[in-house]
Amino acid sequence: MDTQFNWLVATALSARSNAYAPYSKFAVGAAVKCKSGAVFAGTNVENRSFGQTICAERVAIGAAVVGGKRDFVAIAVTADSDEPIVPCGACRQFLAEFAPDLIIVSATVRGQRKIENLSHLLPDPTRGILIHADPS
Ligand code: THU
Repeated sequence: MDTQFNWLVATALSARSNAYAPYSKFAVGAAVKCKSGAVFAGTNVENRSFGQTICAERVAIGAAVVGGKRDFVAIAVTADSDEPIVPCGACRQFLAEFAPDLIIVSATVRGQRKIENLSHLLPDPTRGILIHADPS
């Protein structure tokens, strides 16, 4: 197994223990690594009004942005699932805002792991979307 992301996965698993998921009972932990090496964690935060639920990945990115970081290289996503989970469509778009080539490290609590690239999960993330809205 690729051990390069062990620490990132461990951080995501640790964050997972603080998930607020009383409705789905599906706790997710995420940890995003920045170019500087800084790591920010997130968990899913659910809501009685289901649509307001925030995924762990987006919470981690939000924490990083609050911490002044936007240069992401990898994100670990962890759950107690049969197979490693990948970010949902909304999260893919959210991640692509900052890092279209982000490395996605998906891991289960039992140690199964899969690594793929966001550009594979969401090719062409800006096509047709706010084409005139250049953030720079
Ligand atoms: N969830 C995440 O936090 N990240 C994912 O990648 C998949 C789904 C959360 C949202 C919701 O709280 C629960 O998992 C069930 O979908």
